[in-house]
Amino acid sequence: MKIMVIGSGGREHTIVWKLKQSLKVEQIFCAPGNGGIAQLATCVDIKVEDINGLLNFAQKEKIDLTVVGPETPLVAGIVDAFEKKGFKIFGPSKSAAQLEGSKIFAKMFMAEEDIPTAIFATFDQIKDAKIYLKKNKFPVVLKADGLAAGKGVVICQNEQEAFAALDQIMGEKIFKDAGSKVVIEEFLQGEEVSVLAICDGDHFVMLESSQDHKRAFDQDQGPNTGGMGAYSPAPVLKEGSNEKEAYAIIEQTIKGMKKSGRPFKGVLYAGLMITAKGVKVLEYNVRFGDPETQVILPRLKNDFVDLMLASCEGHLDQIKLEWDPRSAVCVVMAAKGYPGDYAKGLKISGLDQAALVNDAMVFHAGTVKKGDDILTAGGRVLGVTALGDGIKKAIDSAYEAVQMIQWDGCFYRRDIGYRALERLKNGM
Ligand code: AMP
Ligand code: GLY
Repeated sequence: MKIMVIGSGGREHTIVWKLKQSLKVEQIFCAPGNGGIAQLATCVDIKVEDINGLLNFAQKEKIDLTVVGPETPLVAGIVDAFEKKGFKIFGPSKSAAQLEGSKIFAKMFMAEEDIPTAIFATFDQIKDAKIYLKKNKFPVVLKADGLAAGKGVVICQNEQEAFAALDQIMGEKIFKDAGSKVVIEEFLQGEEVSVLAICDGDHFVMLESSQDHKRAFDQDQGPNTGGMGAYSPAPVLKEGSNEKEAYAIIEQTIKGMKKSGRPFKGVLYAGLMITAKGVKVLEYNVRFGDPETQVILPRLKNDFVDLMLASCEGHLDQIKLEWDPRSAVCVVMAAKGYPGDYAKGLKISGLDQAALVNDAMVFHAGTVKKGDDILTAGGRVLGVTALGDGIKKAIDSAYEAVQMIQWDGCFYRRDIGYRALERLKNGM
């Protein structure tokens, strides 16, 4: 089979790496790819938003299966465009992708389906939002309705912060039309966990759990990022009834989407908060998580092509997933300044040595290959993943590999997996 993967991050490098292990795969293209993906696939210079360009390429190359990484083309309707021309593509339709494309749609859907989530109100007028905030208690969470590259959520400690964020989002339109409506919701306290399921519209299979680390610095300090590291499995899901509640949330979501005429195909990612009052949905994503994918796929034993095809063709009920029992840890190595401005084009050294560490893999995110060199080309540059018997061994191997890699200004968190380690120390 000829496969095309769309995207250029660590998530897509991991997807390409996993697809490459399937005997069914003859050739993989990746649009646009990165310096690491270029070692496994043929990178083609087409942007992820260029749906016509991607479709033309699929027609020219007779691509048998396309796997979409990021949300932007999904929300823009890439799956509908490909399927209309008879191409197999893994992901939700434009209407089902609204679960991520519109936070208001997602909240209304959850209210309708009785899916537990934070109490919320929605606004399309800044003055109404301010009147509401004056009566509300803090902290509150303010969310731009549409896609904002992971920057559209602001946790506001007081009225002043909330008004300033509203002025930027609805007044100055820093996220353009994505901020013409907002959700204001209750701040939930608890531990976060990422739960992903592969779906075919009717059936679903749950992937193993994982936990991301969203803040830039150790001990969850500093600004929110796309994710600075992850581990799988996340033991918090095994406590009490958490796993059962998470499963029910996925099941209710799939049933509800089918009922509302938007059957969900592709990967459904529920960002969950484990609160004292039960498991609640913080957000839905309609794609694989990044860096969650870097710790989930290395533990999956099944042929990834079979899984993608079962989702596209509607026979996921015939798939049983098998998992490596070992833990996986991914440490993201980022460029100084990320998630703000950062330099690009810096030479990375030590990649070959890092890959020699037992059960370690280096997934590229923001890199480019120039001659024999690999240069930085993004904020999150690499994701170093290691497997180990238990979380401690996985953490140790991941950091052993990380320490071999260098470039000017590289930084990473040194506490990835700390929650799982604490549980281990406490004998939980
Ligand atoms: P979202 O894009 O909705 O997942 O939000 C990004 C991050 O903001 C989440 O991963 C949480 O860390 C935080 N967050 C979102 N909603 C809430 C909430 N209601 N209460 C507390 N934190 C939240
Ligand atoms: N790691 C968070 C996300 O993929 O949205």
